Amino acid sequence: MDIKITKTTAPKPIPKDDSKLGFGRVFSDHMFIMPYDRENGWHNAEIKPFGDISLSPAAMVLHYGQEIFEGLKAYRTASGDIQLFRPEKNFERLNVSAKRLVIPEIPVEDAMQALTELVKLDKDWVPHSDGASLYIRPFVFAVDPFVGVRPGDYYYFIIITSPSGPYYSTGLSPVGIYVEENYVRAVKGGMGYTKTGGNYAASLAGQDEAHKQNFSQVLWLDGVERKYVEEVGAMNIFFVIDDEIITPVLEGSVLPGITRISAIELCKKWGYKVTERKISIEEIARAHNGGALKEVFGTGTAAVISPVGVLKWGDNAMTINDDKMGDISKKLYDTLTGIQYSKIPDDMGWVRKIKF
Ligand code: PLP
Ligand code: COI
Repeated sequence: MDIKITKTTAPKPIPKDDSKLGFGRVFSDHMFIMPYDRENGWHNAEIKPFGDISLSPAAMVLHYGQEIFEGLKAYRTASGDIQLFRPEKNFERLNVSAKRLVIPEIPVEDAMQALTELVKLDKDWVPHSDGASLYIRPFVFAVDPFVGVRPGDYYYFIIITSPSGPYYSTGLSPVGIYVEENYVRAVKGGMGYTKTGGNYAASLAGQDEAHKQNFSQVLWLDGVERKYVEEVGAMNIFFVIDDEIITPVLEGSVLPGITRISAIELCKKWGYKVTERKISIEEIARAHNGGALKEVFGTGTAAVISPVGVLKWGDNAMTINDDKMGDISKKLYDTLTGIQYSKIPDDMGWVRKIKF
């Protein structure tokens, strides 16, 4: 794929203090953009200065939400290399989302090339400090000016990047999570397994309520029986009960997280018993009452491994592991970030170094 590159003539100052970055607020100098139409397919790939795009107010995405996205990170190692973590998995998942939302797929090699060229051009925007990284947001949406309901004929694929610190302002301290019983996020047959804006729009009312009660995020239950645990707003969820590590099985309503599968693979390699199965919130409360619930943690690109210190279900606020990070969570965090920043050997072959 040919990519036309236009460099900015007005580079922005690169933030010096990584500790003040926060998450997703600052954007680097360039973006990748590629249009699609039925006649030409994906064409005219371009990297250009980050800036506003112009859309018709009738653009279909604004009305019916035909949009998909991904989230991954570029990490700077101590020796100055810049590298990605299992990026092909993100673009494979983007295409799974594309199928569900009737969006034309993007060849994984083309998406990888676009991402690599963009990160190379904005390499100075990859933060230097531990725990900070360049968050990468690829997304695709329908732009036809049409107010009828049908799949679009015209799309944009855009990648923007954002130097970011930890997703939660609390960093590695355990988060408080609120079990949502009124709203549901997704149901089987719906779009839960995809990364599409609509899933996040559906989650906002619950998240708002959780924030009002001083909880960081919502733990979603299944949309039919409201009994089985699904996932958290921006993370998959794991429970350590006695010596078993349990995470909800993927049945179409949960996002198949790349951190989730990586955590499963690592824990299995370490010899833990890992089970993907349905787990009800009652079972978790019972385990907690009986002292068997040892750890709860979330997994996600933005959140990495995030220990859950308090899980609130109705009137029952369960404190887990004394509101401290548990041993398995810590080992996973150290290993994943160790691999991502090349502090430990990448035995799993997960890292893709960007070649300059
Ligand atoms: N679940 C949801 C709803 C998410 O938004 C995310 C974040 O991407 C995840 C789970 C974790 O997925 P991953 O590990 O691929 O980032
Ligand atoms: C991610 O972990 O990459 C996410 O997309 C989470 C979020 C910011 C929606």
